[in-house]
Amino acid sequence: TKLPSPIIKMEVRTRVIAAIFIVCSILLPLGSATHNGLDRRHHHRLYRRHHRGLRGGHLHGVLSDWFASKGSSQDLPREKFDPFGFLSKLNEGSLGTSTGLHEGFYDRTCPRAEQIVAEVVSEAFQNDKGIAAGILRIHFHDCIVTGCDASLLLDSTPSGKDVEKTSAANGPILRGVEVIDEIKARLENECPGTVSCADVLAFSARDGLVLSGVPHYPIPGGRRDSLSSHAEDIIGNMTVPSASIETLTQLFVRKGLTIEDMVVLTGAHSIGRAHCSTFAYRLYGYNQTTRQDPKLEPSIATHIGSTCPRPTIPPQAEFTSTSMPFDSKTEFNMDTEFYSQLSEGKGLIESDQAMAEDPRTSGLVKEMASNQEVWLEKFAKAMIQMGKMDVKTGTEGEIRRNCRSVN
Ligand code: HEM
Repeated sequence: TKLPSPIIKMEVRTRVIAAIFIVCSILLPLGSATHNGLDRRHHHRLYRRHHRGLRGGHLHGVLSDWFASKGSSQDLPREKFDPFGFLSKLNEGSLGTSTGLHEGFYDRTCPRAEQIVAEVVSEAFQNDKGIAAGILRIHFHDCIVTGCDASLLLDSTPSGKDVEKTSAANGPILRGVEVIDEIKARLENECPGTVSCADVLAFSARDGLVLSGVPHYPIPGGRRDSLSSHAEDIIGNMTVPSASIETLTQLFVRKGLTIEDMVVLTGAHSIGRAHCSTFAYRLYGYNQTTRQDPKLEPSIATHIGSTCPRPTIPPQAEFTSTSMPFDSKTEFNMDTEFYSQLSEGKGLIESDQAMAEDPRTSGLVKEMASNQEVWLEKFAKAMIQMGKMDVKTGTEGEIRRNCRSVN
């Protein structure tokens, strides 16, 4: 019997999609693995060159060696490779509905919790506006590695092993941890053992953003704190400034976010600073063949040259402690100036600039640059999504009494 033509068409389409899927699942991971291998080697050169001698630098060297010994497929676990966004869709679902988080989580158990967080952040912000950027970055670096579980805040664990905080990607350049300590101390005074450090991070990051110009948005609560933290979990789970858009996109998608979320959230660089160790290589030693990054805009090159001393081995204190704002015009305001500068080629770190040039992201950068209201709205939504990454809820983990150590 003759099948109705829509069914035949559907079957043909299904077969074609299946064939493309099979071919791509074989070829793309191979290509990507090679690509990631290149990125990784570049990243390790960068960190070896610039972070040796920093606190955690030795650790990173050890990790790099371990990493390098794993071969090129290590960067992104093969089973998580997601060329068609299938995993991202599944993850979005699980981020969106079944996380167990909800707004007003402490309404009955600690009604003033969010108010206390906002008060302490506001006090700290009066003294140092940069604190908003510092806390935001802690929250992001906590979430992206093993989920929003405050594992990054642990100074040590009973296992005695190196914790996330000691990694070169975190240790020397985290600011705002003392503010989190102060918030937690006041909360323990008000309602002991009730508000998790992971929620403190999510609320305080939001409050810092609001003080920097983002319209207030609600953050669901109910995250619980991890019982462990492992420095090696950073590997393959951290954004690095020399990473390609391909690698960064894969990381964000693997974490349940989209490529648009990535571009929108990177607008966080509208506030805050970067240390010479993360961008001066673009001027002083880009790669084996080119001393200076050909994409480095001349006025930014001059600025870097007058701010960051030429690095030495080991790097002198001035090199490791000096920083520059991502957005030199409005360092403390969450506005679209950052995207406008990227559109003019004036990005400070390499990966930000790459977002304005890669065809997959350049349109989004332009869109954000041209409409601050749209960006801020998308930013708040993406922050809520980011704050749901792999959270621990219910009876998982614990509510730490002190964010720096397990109970
Ligand atoms: C997309 C990939 C990203 C890369 C490669 C990247 C890389 C960096 C680098 C190299 C720095 C400078 C660190 C230093 O030298 O102190 C930095 C700072 C910062 N990052 Fe990112 N980042 C990315 C995404 C994000 C996201 C998604 C957020 C938040 C939602 C964020 C928030 C921040 C903030 C606020 C700072 C400034 C911290 C401060 O001033 O203390 N970044 N980032």
